[in-house]
Amino acid sequence: MKSQALQPNPIIEFYDLHPPMGDIKSDVISGLSSTPKALSPKYFYDQKGSQLFDQICELPEYYVTRTEIDLLEQHGEEIASLIGKDSILMELGSGSSLKIRTLLSALKPKAYVAMDISKEHLINAATVLAEDYEWLEVHAVCVDFSLPWQLPMHLKGKRTAFFPGSSLGNFTPDAAIKLLNQIGHLVGKGGELIIGIDLKKDRSTLESAYNDAQGITATFNKNLLVRLNRELNANFNVEAFHHESIWNRAESRVEMHLVSDAEQTVSIDGKEFTLLEGESIHTENSYKYTLDEFTKLASRANFDSVKVWQDVNQLFSIHLLKFR
Ligand code: TRP
Repeated sequence: MKSQALQPNPIIEFYDLHPPMGDIKSDVISGLSSTPKALSPKYFYDQKGSQLFDQICELPEYYVTRTEIDLLEQHGEEIASLIGKDSILMELGSGSSLKIRTLLSALKPKAYVAMDISKEHLINAATVLAEDYEWLEVHAVCVDFSLPWQLPMHLKGKRTAFFPGSSLGNFTPDAAIKLLNQIGHLVGKGGELIIGIDLKKDRSTLESAYNDAQGITATFNKNLLVRLNRELNANFNVEAFHHESIWNRAESRVEMHLVSDAEQTVSIDGKEFTLLEGESIHTENSYKYTLDEFTKLASRANFDSVKVWQDVNQLFSIHLLKFR
């Protein structure tokens, strides 16, 4: 894989692994050709999408972010004591690099490597972090971590991965095992993973977390179509879609859909796709686990459980895992 070290700002090291966005067109065409229709969630995160996602994280209904941050703040010292100082700390899908702040002073890592698919957002976030933590060596890697990839730089030392936000839940269990295994090879034998996993709970709490009263999640979901209209010259009638979130108990996942309120034909690159009135495009899954289910899943990817923390309301969990 080719990497290019640019220096947009001298206080961080930036590497572009060029996530193959050229595939967006073929991905979208194959997704819209399948039954039921689906689009890949990785395309949510353009500039606007990344900003909207930050707003989602602050919504009253979206308990995930604040519960996870509370857990990290409460148990940061213990997490650090189990890991030790001077590790190479690598975050997958670092977004605005806010959550890592709860661990930095306790963990005192040798270096922090932010990894994200959204390039501008990544560079800005890593730069702000480096300004706020002058003692910290900050690297930023633009990468699609759902594809095979390797770290573009040499960093010596014990490695710890950080994968918060229950982002692993956005992969099917099989894909999650593959990704975990890949993270395992990134940190190496004896390396750790600190991962946030959302827990199973009642339907109404789950469905409203992904369908807020202010409609921010709906705007976030529809922004995917706005992006495709702009970047692929598509002609989705965005106004004629509404957002839905459904707890699919049999599959243990919250599903996000965009449902067309009218029959419409969309053309992309000379190909036409018809959506019937009421037909949905499936845009995202968020799988939920019990503590035990997740520990078993991690074990299938060769990670042993070191310790698990959860809040008193049992909404969310942080797992410290070690690769064997
Ligand atoms: N990892 C987040 C989650 O599953 C992603 C997410 C939150 C999301 N809200 C969303 C994805 C709304 C799509 C739509 O909780």
